[in-house]
Amino acid sequence: MPHTPPTPPLPTASPPAGVPRADALEGVLALPRPVLALAPMQDVTDLPFLRLIAARGNADLYFTEYFRVHASAQLERYVLRSITENPTGRPIIAQLIGNDPPSLARAARELQRYPIAGVDLNLGCPAPIVYRKCAGGGLLREPARIDAILGALRDAIPGRFTVKTRLGFDDPGALERLVPMFERHAIDLLTLHGRTVLEMYRPHVHLERIGAVVRALRCPVIANGGVDSPDRARHTLAITGARGLMIGRGAIRNPWLFAQILDHLEGRAPRQPTGHEVLHYVRELWDTTSPQGLIPRLQVQKMKKYLTFIAEGAEPSGRFLHDVRRVTSEEELFQVCRTWLEHDRPLALNAAPALAPSGPDPRDPPPTSP
Ligand SMILES: Cc1cc2nc3c(=O)[nH]c(=O)nc-3n(C[C@H](O)[C@H](O)[C@H](O)COP(=O)(O)O)c2cc1C
Repeated sequence: MPHTPPTPPLPTASPPAGVPRADALEGVLALPRPVLALAPMQDVTDLPFLRLIAARGNADLYFTEYFRVHASAQLERYVLRSITENPTGRPIIAQLIGNDPPSLARAARELQRYPIAGVDLNLGCPAPIVYRKCAGGGLLREPARIDAILGALRDAIPGRFTVKTRLGFDDPGALERLVPMFERHAIDLLTLHGRTVLEMYRPHVHLERIGAVVRALRCPVIANGGVDSPDRARHTLAITGARGLMIGRGAIRNPWLFAQILDHLEGRAPRQPTGHEVLHYVRELWDTTSPQGLIPRLQVQKMKKYLTFIAEGAEPSGRFLHDVRRVTSEEELFQVCRTWLEHDRPLALNAAPALAPSGPDPRDPPPTSP
């Protein structure tokens, strides 16, 4: 068992005070500063992971991993636990993926029994296995089907109805043409990942395209894609004019990122975690994110999902990542982590430069507002 010292407290974001459940999303959107949301990530943002994020800086808003919806689907119990045992003290929105309007409406009605801040439709998943079945990002090729789904969900959801999507299937201008449809169905919030489905996770995020949708749509828009540092957060907000930011992989790499961004936006120096603190985070991931009884080899595989991001952030030359990819046991895993993390130097934990620029991207236009 590796020895790690206790984690000293890092700053946390202040909660939206006293928001009743029915108004939870309004409470967040009324914050006098950009809203920070944790991105939904399948097999990552489960209940134990939410707990780890909440303890290190907390987002303002959470989304569940998606519930898969089809004619005979039941709401997945392990995803429901993120709602019923939500450990963050912040609102959580339940995300659905599917393409059958009556089934999606049924799932949305069932979810009304749970303490959610809203229901979100996944219109952006780029996995070929999903989009080829015309779900997630695949729906962006079928506007008439989107129209039917939005109508069915709007009718079924008395509270807040949100959509998470990409710029288009292959055309980054497509979403601007869908704005009238979103207006007609009165969605309450849009989260926009600034890439097309076919661009998957390639580095460049079309911030200027997010900005065009922000300006065209009446409801608030949260910008998503490539935010891995306080500087990148400020830059994304400045270019897009979005109401807030959603962060996915940056939060796996650096669960303190939400608190660091708030510090930066509010004029305080963001505090970077030390190697020992990151090692402690890895230990907690190992101890909490795998179901009880999982065989050690599979637990090592599951840890690699998190560790590939952490290793790339902690050691940008790629040697830590190289070593992590080769571990096969708990002992090897922690030996590698101790080699790279057993120190008290602060770590920036940005994406490796080849994967995402942490400063302004040279292809972005200059900010038009401070
Ligand atoms: C492992 C993984 C799982 C994901 N699962 C979901 C999901 O369930 N629902 C969803 O809308 N997006 C999902 N996404 C996309 C993220 O929510 C987010 O849009 C994307 O990672 C871009 O943001 P980032 O650059 O901050 O990571 C997933 C992404 C990753 C890396």
